[in-house]
Amino acid sequence: MKKTVMIASVAAMLVSVSLPVAAHAGAESRCKSCHSFTDKNKNGPGLKGVFGRTAGTHAGYKYKFTKYIKGEPWVWDEEHLRAWMLDSRKAVKKFTGNPKAKTKMGPQHVKGAKADEIIAFLKGLK
Ligand code: HEC
Repeated sequence: MKKTVMIASVAAMLVSVSLPVAAHAGAESRCKSCHSFTDKNKNGPGLKGVFGRTAGTHAGYKYKFTKYIKGEPWVWDEEHLRAWMLDSRKAVKKFTGNPKAKTKMGPQHVKGAKADEIIAFLKGLK
């Protein structure tokens, strides 16, 4: 009986330890083909510090969506990131208020727990 309890708690520990790693792997597998998690630009802009950053302002990156921004650009908070990861093509129209707005990033259809993980991961990139 005692053994079972111990095994169960060790298993629980392993699960809690491996969660951040899983979040990292999730984010990487979905985003890293186009984004670095540093300042470096790849196909997409570097995502280090993206949480809280004003959209379209990463140094040295040539954005497509910025030319559709009329007023104040938005800041990448939870709400904007969630909509963007789900469907960037739809989100860019909403954020700019321009139905013709386009972005180079295709829809990723990331939502739910996966989106939560990635947002938590992006928040930690400082
Ligand atoms: C197939 C390539 C590709 C994938 C995969 C991809 N992106 Fe992008 N992403 C881009 C490109 C290209 C841009 C620049 C868009 C533009 O200029 O219109 C971009 C822009 C962004 C921006 C805007 C950043 C800024 O500086 O304003 C965010 C945020 C972002 N991506 C998040 C993500 C996240 C999170 C994932 C993973 C769920 C992801 N992207 C997956 C290609 C990709």
